Amino acid sequence: MRVGVLTGGGDCPGLNAVIRAIVRKGVPEYGYNFLGFRDGWRGPLEAATMPLDIPAVRGLLPRGGTILGSSRTNPFAIEDGVQRIKRNLQNLGVDALIAIGGEDTLGVATQLHDAGVNVVGVPKTIDNDLSGTDYTFGFDTAVGIATEAIDRLHTTAESHHRVLIVEVMGRHAGWIALHSGMAGGANIILIPEVPFDIDQVCRYVEARFRLHYAPIIVVSEGAKPKEGEESLHSGEKDAFGHVRLGGVGEYLAREIESRTGKEARTTVLGHVQRGGTPSSRDRWLATRFGLHAIDAVAEEKWGMMTALRGTDIVMVPLAEATKELKVVDPALYAEAEVFFG
Ligand code: F6P
Repeated sequence: MRVGVLTGGGDCPGLNAVIRAIVRKGVPEYGYNFLGFRDGWRGPLEAATMPLDIPAVRGLLPRGGTILGSSRTNPFAIEDGVQRIKRNLQNLGVDALIAIGGEDTLGVATQLHDAGVNVVGVPKTIDNDLSGTDYTFGFDTAVGIATEAIDRLHTTAESHHRVLIVEVMGRHAGWIALHSGMAGGANIILIPEVPFDIDQVCRYVEARFRLHYAPIIVVSEGAKPKEGEESLHSGEKDAFGHVRLGGVGEYLAREIESRTGKEARTTVLGHVQRGGTPSSRDRWLATRFGLHAIDAVAEEKWGMMTALRGTDIVMVPLAEATKELKVVDPALYAEAEVFFG
């Protein structure tokens, strides 16, 4: 049996650990051979492959990024995309595909499964916004990086009596902002799920200065003010129709300065949150997902995805996991609000 493996969408720490676990179990235990597809769905679309055997996965556990490369290629936005993939898989003798990705990559996997491709999914995203699994790998590393940044910004904010704003990733869901903001003791956390009132933000800022402390604001890149959101981001879109985000931190700094007279500066963490070595928790989760994904192939659990439930790894239907995003519950946000201002 020949198994293809691909990583699609935004990269995240732990992808290589999944690939390693798949191959390290799949070769000796099941006698499978593997083929790496390059750059997400571009690989099967263009028959762009690389060898994937045990020597190829040596030393991968702590390595960030993905040796297979990634892209946001959407085969459903390309004429004849699905037929080309099916043809290439057949020509390459690939019997099954393991797709490691987030909402878009696994959304494609779901539709390919419906089109008759033998596919198993593995969820990844630093945003942690995939349904069906308690956590995705990559998230823990990103939260750790953001928390360290917040810790460092506290001391410089105090020294200069400034408002410091940290813009973190999180397109539709505020999980990174919520977790790192709570862990780092942010005074305000703004997330996409709860449009913010800029007057209220300024009241929190002033309250914080009255206590002789400098405010730290953590904002998800996808957060929006109750009014005027259109002007924040460029109109540029990817193949899945997502707008390229960025600008809410600068918007906040401008508004806060003009309304409160306090100096406000923004740090955009951007891709720093996605790069570098995975945390030990992400290596653990990614490795277990890889082991269970190859078991799922052996058991022909097509159209299913590995998921974490508590400390167990279970299989859930891809269709269920990609139906809707997992966003922050208002009750969790209310917990964080206790510390605002
Ligand atoms: O989906 C993960 C993510 O990191 C989002 O938080 C972010 O909006 C997006 O990817 C950025 O993607 P790119 O690196 O393609 O600009």
